[in-house]
Amino acid sequence: MTALPKIGVGEGAEEQMISLLKQTGEEREKRQLGRVLEKVGGAATLAAVSEGATLPALTEQKVKAALLRKENPGTIRMQALLPADAGLRIFLRCRRGLEGFVREEATEKLDSGTFTIGEVRPGSVTLSVKKPFSLTMIYELRCFATIGFSLGLLRNGDGEAWISELSRCIGSKRASALMLGATEGPARYRLDFPARGHQRGAIRQVVERAYALAPEILNDARQALWSVDVIPVGVLGTEASVELRPRLYPDPRLAYRQDDVAAASHPPLAACMARLAGKSAEPEIIWDPFCGSGLELIERSRLGGVAVAHGTDLDPAAIEIAGRNFAAAGVKSTCAEFVCCDFRDAGRDAGIKPASVSLIISNPPLGRRVRVKNMQGLFADFYAAAIRALKPGGRLIFANPLRTGPNDPALKLESSQTVDLGGFNCQLEMYRKRSS
Ligand SMILES: C[S@@+](CC[C@H](N)C(=O)[O-])C[C@H]1O[C@@H](n2cnc3c(N)ncnc32)[C@H](O)[C@@H]1O
Repeated sequence: MTALPKIGVGEGAEEQMISLLKQTGEEREKRQLGRVLEKVGGAATLAAVSEGATLPALTEQKVKAALLRKENPGTIRMQALLPADAGLRIFLRCRRGLEGFVREEATEKLDSGTFTIGEVRPGSVTLSVKKPFSLTMIYELRCFATIGFSLGLLRNGDGEAWISELSRCIGSKRASALMLGATEGPARYRLDFPARGHQRGAIRQVVERAYALAPEILNDARQALWSVDVIPVGVLGTEASVELRPRLYPDPRLAYRQDDVAAASHPPLAACMARLAGKSAEPEIIWDPFCGSGLELIERSRLGGVAVAHGTDLDPAAIEIAGRNFAAAGVKSTCAEFVCCDFRDAGRDAGIKPASVSLIISNPPLGRRVRVKNMQGLFADFYAAAIRALKPGGRLIFANPLRTGPNDPALKLESSQTVDLGGFNCQLEMYRKRSS
């Protein structure tokens, strides 16, 4: 039986297991049958349960979820109006260091009659709601990474109190209202512990109890549309925030993304960099010397006011992908040109004339995923190329992995902030080319 989920069940095996289940008086055998049917059971197992066969509660839930998933995996209803629950907190999660951008964008774009912007913490900005709202409204914002709906705060552990509190969070009216309200098809969730493993037995109990409280939502790790994340919070990590997250893959904000490169930027970082650039009174000519798949150019062009976007990259595949992504983004007001060349040769190969560019926006190689032999040399050449290409007053915005910046006084530092780029810090910097 243990092997069945791996080797597959043939005709009649489910019925044989069910008839064994009905005959056996052995608890151990029942438990084992339950575990297998959890993975391979279908309509016959559910029918047996409704006829009174006793199976572990988790088996019924898993089988139901698998059957419903096969019928209709479902989708997230982005436009559905969700209830204005006064106690609900929505965490806009972002990389550390980007909170200021998230807050500023939320203040600018969200309807203040519907949302209130609350606490800003490292890696998150909190919203509360005054009126029914939809995910579409929140996904107008491009600077956050994911959203989490608060289900509760609990003390970490694996004991009875932890099991009961966590199952109450999952089985709560709030979790059901959000999942049922914003799901077309069965409301299925997976349970995730980003920080550390918990005992399987404890997790099974949590899932069973949550089902007893709210049988309309189902635990199902496969292709789940929602996740319930248990995230340690506080300095000592003794407490955990329980958050419900829609699993939107691909992210609806990145519908333009036809393809990707190995060292692609974190998309919300590209959106934050575009905001840092701000809008210029004059139509802009922008350049990303290391354009990769083109995210920075696309995000900045989407904000409007860009006449020409130049992208250069050494990798021909990146240039082809950036071109396709830009076309799919449909920013008609910007003429985009992508050329495969070393940024040092962009004057000759990509037609970047001296003092012609108003904004350079880029995530240069950081030397992490792809090793760079001489980072200092690469950055020295990058600054020289920027000074040459920028108009007086033009801006240079980039993620700087080094401790040093440009030595040339032609570039004046206007802002610098530490940003977590996924486990290591960089400075997100903006320089302006002096007028004289
Ligand atoms: C961090 S990635 C850029 C990711 C990009 N922002 C995106 O959205 O996908 C750095 C890129 O620099 C390119 N690159 C490395 N050295 C270069 C050089 N000397 N000239 C031009 N491009 C270079 C790499 O091919 C890579 O695509």
